[in-house]
Amino acid sequence: MKFSKPTEAAIEVAKKAGRLLKSGFTTNYKISNKQGIQNLVTEYDFKSEKLIIKELKKRYPKSSFLAEEEGQVGVDSKEIKWIIDPLDGTVNFAHRIPFFCVSIGAEQNGEIILGVIYNPIADELFVAEKNKGAYLGKKKIQVSNTKEMEKAFLATGFPYNLKDNPENCIDRSLAFLKMGLPLRRLGSAALDMAYVACGRYDGFWETSLGPWDCAAGKIMVEEANGKITNWEGGPFKLSSYNTLVASNGKLHNEMLKILKKHA
Ligand code: IPD
Ligand code: CA
Ligand code: CA
Repeated sequence: MKFSKPTEAAIEVAKKAGRLLKSGFTTNYKISNKQGIQNLVTEYDFKSEKLIIKELKKRYPKSSFLAEEEGQVGVDSKEIKWIIDPLDGTVNFAHRIPFFCVSIGAEQNGEIILGVIYNPIADELFVAEKNKGAYLGKKKIQVSNTKEMEKAFLATGFPYNLKDNPENCIDRSLAFLKMGLPLRRLGSAALDMAYVACGRYDGFWETSLGPWDCAAGKIMVEEANGKITNWEGGPFKLSSYNTLVASNGKLHNEMLKILKKHA
């Protein structure tokens, strides 16, 4: 597939940041807390973010950024806005669990135009571009074909304020578990969405994710013919920290029903 220049740039930069994360993984880096004792940030979150912004600025000097650690950088305009999670899966990284990624999405004229998610440990690169499909490496990917809930393989994630049980997310997860369904919580929302896109998971839900967690994942799922909405079935908006269901489409309504029943 021949991608556009911005997509090629995002691929190059995500790989470079991924190599940086891999080189730092399990070394003696500094770990500190953000808001909340379990909400960690490592030296590598900052290093990766600095590298990504610097490299993208070199290539697209007029673009703006929304990055998890720095927030807004530059002024939004008609140019590309890069939405960056420099290390998604920080808690895994901090505990030496090899499951994390770099996530770079890009928005222009209010629309996500591309998404790149790179897992440097598995060396798996997920790329999606508007109207060009979604890819894992060179292979085009599609969501799964699972149509029956009893056969579903699902994933969720929990926000850092889990003890406040936002959106009753604990009971809602319990509902799926009580149905006897295998449920994963691997700790990287961007990879969770990439896994829905390539059919490894049939569905994923979470609440209170930031735009950097979801920008690349949203287009990945959509370009792989999946569906992404909020828990009411309405449009999923990146900016609103709202609820999210991403699925293969076939199980979407059933997932919404279960979530609603345990509200
Ligand atoms: C977190 C991960 C995790 C999800 C959290 C996110 P971070 O992002 O994506 O899977 O459950 O809600 O905040 O802090 O590792 O970038
Ligand atoms: Ca994240
Ligand atoms: Ca992060």
